[in-house]
Formats: sequence, C-alpha cells, structure tokens
Amino acid sequence: MSLDRSKQAPWWRDATVYQVYVRSFADADGDGVGDLPGITARLPHLADLGVDAVWLTPFYRSPQHDHGYDVADYRDVDPLFGDLGDAERLVEAAHGLGLRVIVDLVPNHTSSEHAWFRAAVAAGPGSPERARYHFRPWSPEPPNNWRSVFGGAAWSRVDDGSEQPEWYLHLFDSTQPDLDWQHPEVGDMFVDVLRFWLDRGVDGFRVDVAHGLIKAAGLPDHDDPDLPAPGRDDSMVARDRADEPMWDQPGVHDVYRRWHEVLAAYGGDRMMVAEAWTPDAESMSRYVRADEFQQAFNFAWLLAPWSASSFADVVTDTLEAVGRVDASATWVLSNHDVVRHATRYAAGATPERGLARARAATLTMLALPGSAYLYQGEELGLPEVDVAPEDRTDPSWFRTGEVGRDGCRVPIPWEGDEPPYGFGPVAPGSQPWLPQPEEWAGLSVAAQQADEDSTLAFYRRALAARREVLPGVPREVSVETHDDVLTLRRGDLVCHLNCGDSAVEPPAGEVVVCSGPTPGSPDTATWVRTG
Ligand code: GLC
Repeated sequence: MSLDRSKQAPWWRDATVYQVYVRSFADADGDGVGDLPGITARLPHLADLGVDAVWLTPFYRSPQHDHGYDVADYRDVDPLFGDLGDAERLVEAAHGLGLRVIVDLVPNHTSSEHAWFRAAVAAGPGSPERARYHFRPWSPEPPNNWRSVFGGAAWSRVDDGSEQPEWYLHLFDSTQPDLDWQHPEVGDMFVDVLRFWLDRGVDGFRVDVAHGLIKAAGLPDHDDPDLPAPGRDDSMVARDRADEPMWDQPGVHDVYRRWHEVLAAYGGDRMMVAEAWTPDAESMSRYVRADEFQQAFNFAWLLAPWSASSFADVVTDTLEAVGRVDASATWVLSNHDVVRHATRYAAGATPERGLARARAATLTMLALPGSAYLYQGEELGLPEVDVAPEDRTDPSWFRTGEVGRDGCRVPIPWEGDEPPYGFGPVAPGSQPWLPQPEEWAGLSVAAQQADEDSTLAFYRRALAARREVLPGVPREVSVETHDDVLTLRRGDLVCHLNCGDSAVEPPAGEVVVCSGPTPGSPDTATWVRTG
C-alpha cells in the first residue's frame, strides 16, 4: 500500500470549505437565532459561490453558554436549531447541490449539563462517575496554577451542596468541564458519536481543541501560567515552548489513530480536520501523519502580519512540514474565534485598505495547493463589528471583561435596507441575537449580487478561477519575494501579491483574476498565466 496520498486526490485535498456559524447564518423560524432549516434554504448561495463543502459549527443539544461548544447531548440537535430530521435534510440537500458536509466535534469537554457531568455531581467524591472528568479533592487553593483560556483559574468548585466541594478542571468556561481521556469510556463514547454522524451521511469532522485532550500525567503546574493560551493572541508566532502540560501532549495522537480507523471503515473519503493550536509547522504536521487527521488548520497563515516576507515564510514552512508527512496543506484567514481579516489588515491603515488587503490575501491563499477554509461573511467583505458591551455574549467577555469574539459572529445580511436584512422572517427593524449595524444594507448579498466590483462578485470570480485553473498546474510552488512583492509560481500560473505602497507590474501574460481594480497596484493580488 502506498502512503503517497497525493496520488489519490480525495475530495478534500484541494477543497474550498465554507464555515457556517450556525447561530448567525439564516433564521427560518424567526426567533432571531440562525437554525438548520435556515441554512438548508440558503445552501444555493454556497453552491453559487463555488465552494466544495460546508463546515457547520456545533448544533447539538447545549445550554449555549459557549454557543454550542458546550455539548449536553452529542447525538441530538438543540431545539433552538431544529431537530435530527432537519440535520438529515440539510445533509441531503447539500449533497444534492454537490456540497460536502463537515460537522463539528467537541471532545475536550462536555457541557456541565451533560448526563455524565450531572451524574458525577450527584454521585460525589471518589465515585466512578467522577472518574470521567478531572476532579480533585477539596483544598483551599486550586490543585494547580492552570489558567482558563477564557480567563481566570482553570478550576472551579463543584456545586454539589457539600461543605468541602471538590475541584474540577475546565480549560474553557466553568460550564465546560474537561473530560479525562485516560478513562476508557470517554474514548468509546466518541467513537459511537463519530459513527452516529457518519451513519447520517456527514463527510467529515472539524475537531475542536484537538491539541488539548490529553493532559500531562499528574497535572503538573505550568511553569509560565500567564503565557496566553495558544491562539488567544499572536503568541503562537514567537512561541518557543513546546512543553505545556495541557497542550499538544504526545498521547493525543493515539486518539486520532483510532478515529482514523473508524472513518476509514466508511466509504467516500470521510475526513477530519484538527483545530490544533501548535507552536510551529512541524508540530502541526504531526497531526496529519498518514494514520491520523487528513488536515489541520494552518493558523500560522492567519497570524501572519501583512508582509510579503511573512507570507512567504509561512508558505515555505507549511509546504515543507506537510510535505515531510505526505499530507496536504490548509489555509485560513478568518473564523468564529478571531477578528475578521478585513479589520485585522486595516490596523494602522484604513478600512478600505483593510478590505483590499483581505481580498488580496484571500486570492493568494486560493492559489496555493491544499484546502482553503472561508468564514461566512468574508465573501461580503464584512468587517468586525464593535458590539456594545450590553449586547456581548462571549463567555470570555464575562470572565475577563475583554471584548471577546462577538464582533465576528454578527448575523449575515441577505437583503433589504434595515436589520435583520433578511436574516429571518421578523418585522423589519427588529434585531437578531447580536445586533447588525445600521450601515450594512450595502453589504447584503442582494446588494452585492449585481455589482461586478463587489467583494461577492470577486469571490465568485476567484473561486471559479481556482476550479478552472488549478487542476491543470503543478502542485509544486516556487516562492519568491522581492521588496514588498510575493510571487508564487505554479508552472505558468503566477500569483503576484503587492504588500507595498507603490505599484509593481505583475509578469507579462493573461490576467486570470485580480483582487482589485488594477493589477499590480498596492494591496492587490493578481493571477497571471505567463505561458
Ligand atoms: C474552540 C472553538 C471555540 C470554543 C472553544 C471551546 O477554540 O473554536 O469557539 O469557544 O474551542 O470549545
């Protein structure tokens, strides 16, 4: 058997995957929160856009303290979003349009409302029920110095009415207790969950916090507890520490080897993509060895500052690292946890330049071999929203008083002149769960539809070019920088990205697609066929 997966070309290898943040895509029942029937009704937008797959954030039963990343029942749909029949209809409709479906799996922690945690609270200290989580005996101080990713201690006292309650570990919110993956029932339960959704036709899983499942034996202190959690700032870029007791422990890989087997027993190239915030490309590549994940998010691309040399370094490091394990790369610029890239690139510049750069960075990643992950609304050029404090809902806001992630999660504007812009069938003027800005009318799908210069029209052209041109060019990329210009070359296809302040002519040839009005101008990427 050959381990050279590049010859097999499974559907996901060069796919464009569109992330749907379920609460904020489309609301069919008019309660102000997006839902599965809403998504199903809007799937034609994704087919028209030209993506290959859709990734849905968690829609399982959940008290929604972290908007579904706190799962109370992995085998059921939260009534807020519909029911199991709605999930099945969504998968069927997507497949009917030629779109694959990836669902989110949250294995690091459950909700505190999950039957296992409720049983653990009820059963008391020392019980087998508590052994599925990380409980520790009462003590005046938490059992170790770990910090929650959302701020504060990673330990809370269990609310079981006793005078000396035990502590339990939660790397995220206190409503998200961490499972103890050394307990055999934990692994078995997740295999059943995988099969449950595979049997319903899903094509893959996005695995939440894939770098966190296994903790160092004995839960030793972190020697730098104030180091921000991976991915919570740009600390990943300069992170020289490979050894943190809660992240990226070698044992996580055994979990994924087992899951790989489970998926392999199903046909259709089912896949898993890891959300693993790891220190560098080399540690990321360990998740995509031939018997583990098919893909891992390449957060280095998202974290790179606006500079030709930074982008060049990420491309070179990534392709080298995944090449060593015969895997393919991924590229991502925005998701539901980070500031939207149009706004990130506007820092120190203007919103217009931010958007121009966002389009250019997108067109650059679309030229690369591997999968590109898009986040809903980036095809409309949506900026991060400055959500008013009284409207914020992110648990990290409640734990730290810092702004949090609500600003990238505002519901999509579809049509019309005022909120909710067609997001749901409610009275014009009424706002969905996060309020939409008054100035978003011009950004709606309907408003951009007919405008050739719109960001939506650009995304359609770029994705069409990707589908038409890339299958015919080599996967090998030559990467060059000259001053502020990054040049990526795949055979006779050149992607020319100008990160500087003055125009630089792209090479001679036929312009296939350009992210702005003028090829070669600042903040612009251009694809040219030089042959
Ligand atoms: C991941 C998710 C994030 C969630 C966290 C806890 O980082 O992307 O949205 O809050 O895990 O599950």
